Amino acid sequence: MNPIEPEILRVLHRMEEEDAEDRKAVGRPREDRMFTLHPDTSRLVHILIQSARCKSLVEIGVAHGYSTIWLAHAARIMGGHVTSLEVNPKSVEIARRNVKEAGLLSLVDFVLGDARETLKGLKGPVDFVLMDCWEWLYVDCLQTIVPLLRPGGLLVADNVEPGDAESDRYIRALEEHPLMETVPVPIGRKIEVSMRKSE
Ligand SMILES: C[S@@+](CC[C@H](N)C(=O)[O-])C[C@H]1O[C@@H](n2cnc3c(N)ncnc32)[C@H](O)[C@@H]1O
Repeated sequence: MNPIEPEILRVLHRMEEEDAEDRKAVGRPREDRMFTLHPDTSRLVHILIQSARCKSLVEIGVAHGYSTIWLAHAARIMGGHVTSLEVNPKSVEIARRNVKEAGLLSLVDFVLGDARETLKGLKGPVDFVLMDCWEWLYVDCLQTIVPLLRPGGLLVADNVEPGDAESDRYIRALEEHPLMETVPVPIGRKIEVSMRKSE
């Protein structure tokens, strides 16, 4: 049985169709685009959160709120909550509408601002982080995320493509980090799954 209720699936499927159209559009500024998380990645994230018993969830990069809905649904199952960091006020407005339509708004706190700064204001321990902003920010964000994560906490980063300079920089930073254990997972648009080890 699909664990997601039909009324939430309807919102997600509508957004998947919007994203497919959006990816065909030429010349639209990056800030106005959706770039939603791949549905398979979303499903994996939904499973990981439950399996690792994560309650305090953070996402970096909200866009129109597709991943937010998946996280909020997992948070509801776990009795947790989501903190969603986004720099674009227009995106937060759209995401808020979509998450509300899915009936999950009470589970999400939107924090507007540059995640490199807003992350510093979060209170740990955090159980799970989804990093899905622009890839050139990943290494900077990593430095703030690791101390926030509890031992055994998970960090999933989307769009990590070996051979791409920014992705390689992130992969190297993870390899060199003494507190992170990482595996690349070739699902969706390719992700890195990392766990914070005990000190
Ligand atoms: C790939 S999209 C996020 C897609 C979203 N996770 C989803 O599944 O629908 C990237 C988002 O990161 C946001 N972003 C870019 N730079 C940021 C920053 N410094 N702080 C927070 N968010 C940022 C962009 O505005 C954009 O909405």
